[in-house]
Amino acid sequence: MLRVHVLGAAAGGGFPQWNANDAANRRARAGDPAAPPATQASIALSADGVRWFVVNAAPDLRAQIEANPCLHPKAGLRSSPIAGVVLTNGDVDALAGLLHLREGTPFALYAHRRVLDVLDANPIFEVVSRRNVPRRSLRPDEWQPLCDASGTESGIEVRPFAVPGKVPLYLESDTAADAAVESEAFDTLGLELRAGAARLFYVANCARVDAALADRLWGAPLVFFDGTLFRDDEMIAAGVGRKTGARMGHISMDGPEGAMAALEPLGLGRTVFIHINNTNPALLSDSAERRRLEAAGFEIAHDGMEIEL
Ligand code: MLT
Ligand code: MN
Repeated sequence: MLRVHVLGAAAGGGFPQWNANDAANRRARAGDPAAPPATQASIALSADGVRWFVVNAAPDLRAQIEANPCLHPKAGLRSSPIAGVVLTNGDVDALAGLLHLREGTPFALYAHRRVLDVLDANPIFEVVSRRNVPRRSLRPDEWQPLCDASGTESGIEVRPFAVPGKVPLYLESDTAADAAVESEAFDTLGLELRAGAARLFYVANCARVDAALADRLWGAPLVFFDGTLFRDDEMIAAGVGRKTGARMGHISMDGPEGAMAALEPLGLGRTVFIHINNTNPALLSDSAERRRLEAAGFEIAHDGMEIEL
């Protein structure tokens, strides 16, 4: 069995976002039940209900731990059920939460070498002491066991793979063109995870569904997928940004090249959109866009969502 808890459903910035003052963010702030607040994208998984692996350490991780009793300490005076953290990319919303995990309790940290290089190059992350927190390099396209800090297997295995994406914003050069900045391979990973017969994908950052990704996802029982924007130009249309989704390395839900059109033919069991930007009307349970998604069989992640496989 594999238990999955959605710790956070929103994209970087969360919902409401600190500086966002448009109608949707105001509704979230006012407690409108159709605009539920969401923290930044992350899921936690466990094969045994005791040891948990967190996929991406969001800046909201401290609050996410408190909101999820499965992640509360259970043993002794200092401990944590968090056996490990797996990072899919080097964006701030994927790794800043590591700084919450700095009080000396062991866990294992897994990421691609490119992301470990970013951590190694930033001395602030040394507060997460390598003595307690081994940094382990994920090997793309191979199954590997997720182990706790001491090397004990958790019953969960992961097979990471490169997906179309881009470098983290803070690593873009000043001269980066306004055209999409495509990454080197492995700046953005998708994860296939399994425990026994249970299987799922986590692909929360993805610029497009190419043939390789479509083949890989085909027939999967559960896919968490990049739901950043509903429409590619939605931030521009709302007057809150200059960038398209494509420029940010995120596929949109709608449109002929969008995620709904690309995923619909793949025969997926459940598709749960996650990493949803505060501008995406899919966050609003009373929006026409949400009705369209649900009518087409897609789900929208929410903080506190639980799935058992
Ligand atoms: C993204 O998903 O595009 C990033 O989280 C953006 C950011 O770092 O602000
Ligand atoms: Mn992000």
